[in-house]
Amino acid sequence: MEFLSDASDMTMCDKQKIVVRGGKPLVGSLQIHGAKNAVLPMLAAGLLTEDGVSVSDCPHISDIDAMLALVGELGAKAERKGRNVIVYGRATRTCVSGQLASVMRSSMFMLGALLASLGEVKMPLPGGCDIGARPLDIHLDGLRKMGAICEFEDGELRCYAKALHGADIVMRYPSVGATENLLMCASLATGRTTLVNCAREPEIISLARCLRAMGANITGEGTSVMTVEGVRKLHGASASPCADRIVAGTVMAAVALAGGDVSMYGISPNLLSSVTDVFQAAGASVTCDSACMRVRSDADLRALSVSTAPFPLFPTDMQPQLMACLCYAKGVSFVRETVFENRFAHAEELSRLGARVVTGGDVACISSPEPLHPAVMSAKDLRGGAALVISALGIDGESEILNPHFIDRGYEDLPKLLRSLGADVTRQI
Ligand code: UD1
Repeated sequence: MEFLSDASDMTMCDKQKIVVRGGKPLVGSLQIHGAKNAVLPMLAAGLLTEDGVSVSDCPHISDIDAMLALVGELGAKAERKGRNVIVYGRATRTCVSGQLASVMRSSMFMLGALLASLGEVKMPLPGGCDIGARPLDIHLDGLRKMGAICEFEDGELRCYAKALHGADIVMRYPSVGATENLLMCASLATGRTTLVNCAREPEIISLARCLRAMGANITGEGTSVMTVEGVRKLHGASASPCADRIVAGTVMAAVALAGGDVSMYGISPNLLSSVTDVFQAAGASVTCDSACMRVRSDADLRALSVSTAPFPLFPTDMQPQLMACLCYAKGVSFVRETVFENRFAHAEELSRLGARVVTGGDVACISSPEPLHPAVMSAKDLRGGAALVISALGIDGESEILNPHFIDRGYEDLPKLLRSLGADVTRQI
């Protein structure tokens, strides 16, 4: 398994770069793979039973490699066969190591998975992209209501419970990760849990379906109130994640700014309606039938004002790619980031292309008085890094994006994907 586990691997990655020779429209078709953010909690849910839980359509990305390493470190087994991953055997250890927790935010799913299966978890605070403080209070508040004791010891979080019981939990914000952790715990708790103001993201529907296939008794996924009747035991199952709406949205943004005609298969338009609305308002055309989403653009974009918000509104994970597009738009655009408080690291990098991107508080103001020019930019996080790659697609000349390992966390070889649509994008050492 390829996994960035030591400093030498990381140094090698840091020497890599993505080179974009832009100026060509994107033309062709592609299949959208399973969503990273659906697969990760589903793999964690595999720890809730000794039987095998098989997840199909798992992309080859480093966040999933890290999750498989984490499952193995905890004593269970995780095997990949092509795009299928199976998790089986019970976890035997309750401590998550600092190394893996620091690599990815999704180590947070061990909170629910280990507490529900072993009654205890000890872990450092999860790492991942540096896009905000990302506290765990909503997770811990819910777990405490279900009977867990959660305390910080020597900079680590320890949660334990003799037995978890159902509870009425009102979340102060519809946190995706907290909803998923509480669903896992509630599935094996005694009695009924009601989650109010829970997140409605499609990835939560995938997790609920996976848990239900494992024997859980869950209703209400996709709405803000979910109910879970706890069961004594869960069993093995096969489950599929929803398609990756952020990968599809990134392709939509790339076509919007570079121009072209691309058909995407395997993605339901319902997962992307807010994103489609925004790119259409910017000047792209999106048409859908039951099998395909077709994006066309002549790269003549209009300025916009957009705010990010929880599903079904415009996703924060598409904010950097939208900002890359708006650097090409005529006029002045405003983007408000309401979900994470520190998610504008890509703004300074985009301004290296000649765009004027000014940020203040939760708002960015974007305009480009002069034509954009090629530049060397540095990825600072996953989605911001992808935004830098696509931002260079509309410019004649050679741009470079440093630190591509951030992008590998969530995109299965983004240069190859863009090459399959006719772009000139390569990875170089
Ligand atoms: C998930 C996604 C991430 C996406 C985000 C929002 C995964 C693996 N990651 O992250 O790609 O950008 O949803 O759509 O699915 N918050 C608190 N206290 C908490 C929990 C969250 O204050 O206990 C805050 C966060 O700091 C953030 C906001 O709530 O400002 C949203 O966070 P949340 O929905 O929990 O995001 P994640 O689950 O971490």
